[in-house]
Amino acid sequence: MEKLSVNDARDESFIGKQCCLQGWVRTRRDSKAGFSFIEINDGSSQGNIQIIADAELVNYESEIKNLTAGCSVSAIGEIKASGGKGQSTELHASQVTLHGWSDPETYPLQKKRHSFEKLREWAHLRPRTNTFGAVARVRNCICNSIHQFFQEDGFLYVHTPVITTSDCEGAGEMFQVTTMDLEHVSKNQIERLDYKFDFFDRPSYLTVSGQLEAETYACALGKVYTFGPTFRAENSNTSRHLAEFWMIEPEMAFYELADNMNLAEAFLKRVFRDAIKKCSEDMEFFNLRVDTTLLDTIEGILSSEFVRLTYTEAVEILKSCGETFEYPVRWGIDLQSEHERFLTEVHFKSPVILYDYPKTIKPFYMYCNDDDKTVRGMDVLVPKIGEIIGGSQREHRLDVLEQRMADQDMAIDEYWWYTDLRKFGTVPHAGFGLGLERLVQFVTGMSNIRDVIPFPRTPGNADF
Ligand code: 4AD
Ligand code: MG
Repeated sequence: MEKLSVNDARDESFIGKQCCLQGWVRTRRDSKAGFSFIEINDGSSQGNIQIIADAELVNYESEIKNLTAGCSVSAIGEIKASGGKGQSTELHASQVTLHGWSDPETYPLQKKRHSFEKLREWAHLRPRTNTFGAVARVRNCICNSIHQFFQEDGFLYVHTPVITTSDCEGAGEMFQVTTMDLEHVSKNQIERLDYKFDFFDRPSYLTVSGQLEAETYACALGKVYTFGPTFRAENSNTSRHLAEFWMIEPEMAFYELADNMNLAEAFLKRVFRDAIKKCSEDMEFFNLRVDTTLLDTIEGILSSEFVRLTYTEAVEILKSCGETFEYPVRWGIDLQSEHERFLTEVHFKSPVILYDYPKTIKPFYMYCNDDDKTVRGMDVLVPKIGEIIGGSQREHRLDVLEQRMADQDMAIDEYWWYTDLRKFGTVPHAGFGLGLERLVQFVTGMSNIRDVIPFPRTPGNADF
């Protein structure tokens, strides 16, 4: 018997077809006329399908009549047009097989609606809810669009290492990787650990970014991108930070800052457009249940251009806007999320690309402007989230780069391979990093980043 997804079976074109549907029961009600309505969902779409199970079925009394939320079933039968409200088809079952009971006394997802906080305690069951099913489908659609966007434009997908010895962002927020038996090292031994006994012979870490390695491939193959997990041991318990998140990092030879901005804008718009088109049912759901301004906001963004302005101009706006911020603004500070959100949500009501940041607050690899005060870095800010993308044109002049590294007290020798790129056929190049979870947050309207990744890792939480 051919298996169909619930999503397919909901389509009228399948009326008259004999098939097998499989999934988890959402609800069951019994009619006095001698049959039961069983709603099942299999994750293929937001909507359920109704199965009509006749009391004549052999296991009606023993099983079907006792089905409750969470039970798993297979149903064989014919798809027919449905008279029911909000559904065009239903399955008239000739056979319903029970795979697993779900005790209504202890199954956490009984009828009651739970808060997103509560559902985090059941990370193993929350994908069975409407919201988390929708997040998973939209996240999948976004990942697919990301690959398609780059693949259609001639980018190569490269895999950069997860374990590294360099701190790309220079922020010292790295998780150390070791095979040393830390449980049996006493406190004073830790202070003078001999890394000769460690796996890599030296301290090594989980990567915070694949950028430096991606640059090596861009400086050989032109346009590349990475898409992988990255790790940051920053102790920030916010709704926008994870210790483990996925990052997409395109890197392009012969690109300057303006090219980088153009790419970032086209890239985000493509992802937004695909989500609206390919996940319309889920996007309607988010617009109804999570954020009623969601679709209007995204449509508005698609039909306008991102605002672009320098950091210096942004600081002027923030200083003269009359708003009181928790962190006062002056030229040279790292903008806080309250400032970023003011610019996108209140002042411009649009995504904003800020560029030409003070060099003192940005990493060593960004291209120095002639003013010797700013670097060609850029951040893309969006309403509700703030920074979604961080990127830059890279410093490709060896002498300037080495000076910057020296200024930041970096061990230049350890980056010999990175400086080599500037010795042998150096070219202007640029790239950026997009945090996947912040993008999924923006597209779905979900307010906490812990709810857009299946198993969030945050300070004190790596349980499951
Ligand atoms: O701005 P960031 O730190 O930039 C880089 O890592 C560059 N090396 C990227 C590049 O140019 N190739 O991080 C890039 C993006 C941020 O804009 C944000 O969206 C996301 O990564 N991000 C986080 N997302 C979730 N949790 C965290 N702790 C994040 N830190 C950064
Ligand atoms: Mg950044």
